[in-house]
Amino acid sequence: MVFRPAFTLLLLLLSSSPSSSSSVSELSVSFDNTTRHALVFVPSGADLTAPIPVVLNFHALASDPAAQMLMSDMNTIAERENFVVVYPRGLEGAQVWTPLPAPGPTYSLNGGGCCPAACSKGADDVGYTRFLLDEYLEDELRLTFDRSRIYATGMSNGGFMTNRVGCEMSDVIAAIAPVSGPLMNGASIAWKSDPFECDITRPVPVLHMHGLADIIVPFNGDRLLSFPKIEDSVNGWASRNGLGDDVKWTSSYENGDVACDSAGANSNNVTLCRIKGGGHSWPGAPGGLCPEHGPFACTRDIVASEEIWRFFSSKSL
Ligand SMILES: *[C@@H]1O[C@H](CO)[C@@H](O)[C@H](O)[C@H]1NC(C)=O
Ligand SMILES: *[C@@H]1O[C@H](CO)[C@@H](O)[C@H](O)[C@H]1NC(C)=O
Repeated sequence: MVFRPAFTLLLLLLSSSPSSSSSVSELSVSFDNTTRHALVFVPSGADLTAPIPVVLNFHALASDPAAQMLMSDMNTIAERENFVVVYPRGLEGAQVWTPLPAPGPTYSLNGGGCCPAACSKGADDVGYTRFLLDEYLEDELRLTFDRSRIYATGMSNGGFMTNRVGCEMSDVIAAIAPVSGPLMNGASIAWKSDPFECDITRPVPVLHMHGLADIIVPFNGDRLLSFPKIEDSVNGWASRNGLGDDVKWTSSYENGDVACDSAGANSNNVTLCRIKGGGHSWPGAPGGLCPEHGPFACTRDIVASEEIWRFFSSKSL
């Protein structure tokens, strides 16, 4: 989805922050000889003495941290529940095939199989994420992170990226929640990709949400773009998490168009929420970011960010 960064930044500035002492910082980070960016939300309840949980929240292809902040509305929950949200920005130069030129710079993240140009360039976004967590953010924000409670979520390209950090940072990330983006760690026939091994060091709880009518990252995969079937992505996690080949799914949430099935215990929970009629969207996104119809059709029968935090909050390393 092509967002207009300048426009979304304006919205960001206009929307009132949850409290006067919470803050959104825009950081310029020097990493790997390039200047990277990130937006970071720090809730007003954060203090220097208590370690605080962190949610990484990755943006979609041709999107950016400001747009992801608006779409996920995660800061509202972070203010209420007292956690930090980090929105890392990918490399400039997303490749999208739209008839119209992008209105400004666009960004992509290297989720392995997707998305170009980041994956074609082999951008070290996992390294960048580790750098933010291990060497940069705590000093910059003057906070201590709760190392047992670092989580990752993201939309579309950000969902691919979320799956990738679940694989490659299973020593760091306590649970993941990809939205509209699968684990794709093999080669793509559509572009140069950056295959990687998904060797986890411990079970990684996964909550995956996906629209059954998504035409951009289709639920049944896309042979032309080499996108896997979403069920294969989720079953892969179930098998990695030790749930066997014959996974026992039970219904864990049902409301209107949304049906979620779960397997495993708390520590290796794998959950897939299927959204009937759902397009390429973040369920329960605010206002116009949750359209009723079209390719980005978005349900309000579940609020993704609330369910994601509910899932994360019961998980720790
Ligand atoms: C960064 O720049 C230094 C000095 O120019 C060079 O030696 C190094 O290979 C570069 N590293 C990367 C990752 O490009
Ligand atoms: C797994 O996670 C889902 C989604 O949060 C939840 O509804 C379900 O109760 C969880 N199952 C277990 C065994 O913790």
